[in-house]
Amino acid sequence: MKGRRRSSDSSLRVRFSGSERGRAHARWYRIIAEHYDRLSDPRRVTRAHAFLRQLFHRHPIGREVLDVACGTFAIDLPLVKRGYQVVGRDRSEEMLRVARRNLRTAGVTADVDRADMRSLRLGRRFDALLCLGTAFNYLASSADAQKALRTFRDHIRPGGLLVLDLTNFDAWIQHPNNVRAEVDYRSVDGTKIAIFAFNEQDVRKGIHHARFLTVVQRQHRADIGFDEAPLRIWKKEELARALRAAGLRPLEWWGDLRLGAKYERSQSPRIVSVSISR
Ligand SMILES: C[S@@+](CC[C@H](N)C(=O)[O-])C[C@H]1O[C@@H](n2cnc3c(N)ncnc32)[C@H](O)[C@@H]1O
Repeated sequence: MKGRRRSSDSSLRVRFSGSERGRAHARWYRIIAEHYDRLSDPRRVTRAHAFLRQLFHRHPIGREVLDVACGTFAIDLPLVKRGYQVVGRDRSEEMLRVARRNLRTAGVTADVDRADMRSLRLGRRFDALLCLGTAFNYLASSADAQKALRTFRDHIRPGGLLVLDLTNFDAWIQHPNNVRAEVDYRSVDGTKIAIFAFNEQDVRKGIHHARFLTVVQRQHRADIGFDEAPLRIWKKEELARALRAAGLRPLEWWGDLRLGAKYERSQSPRIVSVSISR
């Protein structure tokens, strides 16, 4: 951490440079991966599964699915259980460790491995490609986002689907929700977890700065992690242009990864886009 020092009032100043930010992000996932599924809204997986099943029913496709930021594989598991062959990739080894454990516990197998979505080269195409849970917002620069979209297109069969599920930070600008205790949780084994968010938006640059201070206390040990990540604020029209430029045709827009969630720019928690590969 560059410029880390104690000021006269003994507060701790933390300032990250690019590579340090990457390391801090990895450290944060080390602390949080283990608890990630329990901290998420338990209805999220059920709703996402219902959404995807209905989508795949409306646009009949084959059964080969690639999730480019699979995290703990929580959303993919129900698909695997329904007979889809889901390949999972993620850049966080910690999230993948939990994904592999989730697969073992469910008694199913899937090809999961480490990769960055910008530079995937799997040498095959899929019927659908998923990029869910804000992962696409992490690509903060236009160059990275365009590179990733072209990579996605190269991994989807003509007529196959791309499902992007982004946080709708655009809505946060009008209704800022920036400083808050994000999670306050105690598990059955007594582990206590608190996550404080200190976010802000740089509207001119189209960047949401996500900052989380996370405390995990197990018995007498407390792990404290700080993560800061620049996340891209996408507007629907801008995303539609980027999709078209990459050879993908936007078909549907939703306000959440659940059935019937209408997209409303200033209200919806998410921007979910479904596109077809040409
Ligand atoms: C908030 S989690 C969402 C995980 C999962 N998609 C879900 O919806 O539950 C974001 C995930 O994106 C992954 N990620 C972020 N940038 C990535 C990249 N460039 N390539 C691959 N994975 C990435 C992180 O490691 C993390 O597992």
